[in-house]
Amino acid sequence: MKKNLLMLLMAAMLTLVLVACGTSSEDDQVDDQTTENTEEPGEGGENNLLIMATSADYPPFESIDESGEFEGFDIELARYIAEELGYELEIRDMNFDGLIGALQAERVDMVLSGMSATEERKENVDFSIEYHRSGEMFVTRADSDIEGIEDLDGIVLGVQLGTIQEEGALVLQEDYDFEISALDDAQVLIQELLTNRIDVVYLDKQVAHGFIEAQGLTGFDDPTRVSPGMAIAFPIGSDLVDEINAVLEEALENGKIAELEDEWLLDIE
Ligand code: ARG
Repeated sequence: MKKNLLMLLMAAMLTLVLVACGTSSEDDQVDDQTTENTEEPGEGGENNLLIMATSADYPPFESIDESGEFEGFDIELARYIAEELGYELEIRDMNFDGLIGALQAERVDMVLSGMSATEERKENVDFSIEYHRSGEMFVTRADSDIEGIEDLDGIVLGVQLGTIQEEGALVLQEDYDFEISALDDAQVLIQELLTNRIDVVYLDKQVAHGFIEAQGLTGFDDPTRVSPGMAIAFPIGSDLVDEINAVLEEALENGKIAELEDEWLLDIE
């Protein structure tokens, strides 16, 4: 009799546990939609959320379309990676200059932002294998008489804060006498060029060509430097590096990267 009672109790408890599980998984689903932003980053988090940061001012790599959606090569690549690995992707837009700090503070899981994998940055973040390589360019107004770096004396050169172009400009300043205007946003640099506040904008070649076409500008190649390729950045020691490198290697082999290049990048090299 005592035994039967115990069995009954156990059965009742089991039912309770099952019911509890049922409700909690329902709650989790609600959570997925409502608490996305408070989810702790870190290797996907509880509901497999992958938080990516970018500076969405850099078409064709990352920008925001008319309907407010992220678009571009890096965005599509991140979506592909997330899908391949079964993560839900959340994208956050921030200033390029703040991306490394966001990784160091582990506020985000990864950065795709046309970021060149420099030795200096490698001291603060881990990089994936390189997924794209492009040069640099100087963009000028169509009527400009600045046609090469020898014409940089006396002008205002615009660069994006925290980029390798900002560093490059500082090096060029040793030989040429120009002023540097370092701004947060690459698109604002182009506006400043169009309104004569800046004379030349120094930026990635792919991006430069896009602005040249869209805004009727012109420009010339950078003969001074060979920059490292673009890679995905992670907090130091992140488990995601290996996981995502495997997907990138596969994407380089199976034609996915080539497909994204065809879709987003200009054939300029
Ligand atoms: N490739 C350059 C760098 O790593 C510029 C990247 C700027 N990216 C952007 N999304 N604004 O410094």
